[in-house]
Amino acid sequence: MENEGKYTTIHYQKYLALDELLNAQNLRSEQLGKPAHEEMLFIITHQVYELWFKQIVHELESVIAMFQKDQIDESNLGNAIGRLDRIERIMQLLIDQIGVMESMTPLDFLDFREYLFPASGFQSFQFRAIECLLGLPDMTRITYHNTRYNSVFPDDQKERLAQIYNDGTLFDWVNKWLERTPFLKFGSFDFIKNYKKAVNVMLEKERKAISASEYLSDDEKVKRLEMVGGTDTYFKAILSQENHDQLVKEGKKRLSYQATLAALFINLYRDEPILQLPFQLLTNLIDIDDLMTTWRYRHAQMVLRMLGNKVGTGGSSGHEYLAETARIHKIFADFHTISTLFIPRSALPVLPDEMKKNLSFHFTQNL
Ligand code: HEM
Repeated sequence: MENEGKYTTIHYQKYLALDELLNAQNLRSEQLGKPAHEEMLFIITHQVYELWFKQIVHELESVIAMFQKDQIDESNLGNAIGRLDRIERIMQLLIDQIGVMESMTPLDFLDFREYLFPASGFQSFQFRAIECLLGLPDMTRITYHNTRYNSVFPDDQKERLAQIYNDGTLFDWVNKWLERTPFLKFGSFDFIKNYKKAVNVMLEKERKAISASEYLSDDEKVKRLEMVGGTDTYFKAILSQENHDQLVKEGKKRLSYQATLAALFINLYRDEPILQLPFQLLTNLIDIDDLMTTWRYRHAQMVLRMLGNKVGTGGSSGHEYLAETARIHKIFADFHTISTLFIPRSALPVLPDEMKKNLSFHFTQNL
């Protein structure tokens, strides 16, 4: 095309397909001759959610593609973070929107609820796609009446959801990316060896301080020393690859041992310039998980207010089922719990000078 579409005429109404969009609110209550004022709000709220879900899917697919193509260099990491930031802002909006829905009273809802059976949010394909793209583990999903989450979709949508898991979720790709993180071994410096030593030094100091304390009674000293012993055992168990792999096998952890060490390293030395963006990315993932949980919780509370203990139109126990998903459906829990392994900055192993130089940005100027 000669002018590359720059000065063609497109009207606002057409460009945004407003004819279709603004004529897509079909109130069941009106069709059945018993118009219910609040049904418009109910439909529009759901439609707005679905539009934002579409945007989230769009962002997630693009971020995953960057990881898949192994394009996660410094410039792309910034792009990925920008898109994850955007997802967070949208999710915040989705949480706030529950307040708009709640401006409808439970009694008003009953004016049209009976016309909705068996439609349910349980049938939102895009919501499931978001969960899958992020990497909600399939086997930990809560079911009701033994109904699998994907059983409500036609075959092509079922296949699409299975394909997301096959191609690798955001969780899987971040895991792989972390496994490739350099610096865990640098020349003769072995991060994990030094870290274990630092943990021992810290715990030994703690033991000495307890034994020397003038304020603690003998009984209290025994109890506190036992607690330090517990911490010691805990660190030893977690920092050993064998134990970690066992936890992964049992489904208690998902992040591989190597990826966990990399995430630990990034968190501990996040002040080093090169680690700032990776640290930001890990923080984004934790934020997104928290926002998902907050949405689930707020939605469950809204359902309690609207329905009390009535069952859902999709056949679940309603509030009880939804509250359980808020508790169990976590995606990046391993990034949350990494802080269990932190020790104070003052006790951290000092990085060799050469390594520190590699972790900082170099600017050379030829004068
Ligand atoms: C009056 C408002 C609402 C009520 C009473 C309500 C009720 C419910 C109930 C009872 C369920 C459990 C499944 C079932 O048995 O049907 C559910 C699931 C769900 N709802 Fe809502 N909902 C409301 C608004 C919304 C809105 C505005 C959205 C936005 C898209 C939404 C999205 C979902 C999703 C995605 C699920 C599946 C959650 C999961 O299985 O993890 N709901 N809803």
